[in-house]
Amino acid sequence: MPKRVSNRHILVIHGPNLNFLGQREPEQYGHQTLDDINESLHTKAKELGFQLSDFQSNHEGELIETIQKAVGRVQGLIINPAAYTHTSVAIRDAVLILAVPTIEVHLSNIHKREPFRQRSFIADIATGQITGLGAAGYLFAIEALANIIS
Ligand code: DQA
Repeated sequence: MPKRVSNRHILVIHGPNLNFLGQREPEQYGHQTLDDINESLHTKAKELGFQLSDFQSNHEGELIETIQKAVGRVQGLIINPAAYTHTSVAIRDAVLILAVPTIEVHLSNIHKREPFRQRSFIADIATGQITGLGAAGYLFAIEALANIIS
């Protein structure tokens, strides 16, 4: 959760089970851990002159509260809602409240997977979606957001 107000601040939200990255279905999600991904995002944010906050939870309400607390404090959002992508109207509504440029990221290509994963409650309200490019997708997302915000 963002601690202080700056005009170049990006929030990264990781949904349920992403705390098991590295161990969890590596053929689908790769070998990098969530810590690896966050570390590379913090390094890239620094390079681009942005402050970055990251948050992971397995609980829908905690994800929503973190997004709500970021209102007025962040200028961009990177979100991988994980399984909540396909189910959560509440996370969609929180993203609408936040109302900042938003990139939806998925490690796997959700459009090549089971039909239930092909529906996203975030896609049509996001600025863009990066799906299927693995951990690199997060870095493309922060570069895209930096361009949009600057
Ligand atoms: C995911 C895809 C979702 O369908 C799945 O539930 C996840 C991860 C991805 O990054 O590819 O947990 O969001």
